[in-house]
Amino acid sequence: MSVKILMVCLGNICRSPLAEGILRSKLSEDFIVDSAGTGGWHAGQLPDKRSIAIAKSKGLDITNQKARQFKVSDFTTFDHIFVMDNSNYKDVLALAPNEEAKSKVKLILNELFPNENVDVPDPYYGGQDGFENVFDMLDQACEEIARKLKR
Ligand code: 4NP
Repeated sequence: MSVKILMVCLGNICRSPLAEGILRSKLSEDFIVDSAGTGGWHAGQLPDKRSIAIAKSKGLDITNQKARQFKVSDFTTFDHIFVMDNSNYKDVLALAPNEEAKSKVKLILNELFPNENVDVPDPYYGGQDGFENVFDMLDQACEEIARKLKR
């Protein structure tokens, strides 16, 4: 059975679509990578143009991804759930039906800075430089995640 990883942010249009595309690019097709938002306002939409642009500049095409809302069944579908910030963490944990589900949820930057609970900043209201910063953080975090998953 494939190992399944879910990336989660608020809108599923800026951060988690990048995390999805970046991690997928670092793993074989034996792994399943998806993303979702705690909020549903953008469901069905493509990633933000600025996420598409920064991904494209790094050689990644994320235009096959569509936003969707996180759902409780994701706790059973996925083995690992990486959230982008502390607010996402609180929102996802509040939906967890049991301890096993809770144990799957991790702040993505704790892969780089263990136990520091650092947020991936929401770049939505900023400029393209915020998206470049987010891309670099996620690239490093996903490198670490891929390294662990492959061993
Ligand atoms: P994301 O960014 O959570 O990284 O996808 C956001 C996108 C949209 C909104 C907030 C954050 N919004 O309020 O519409």
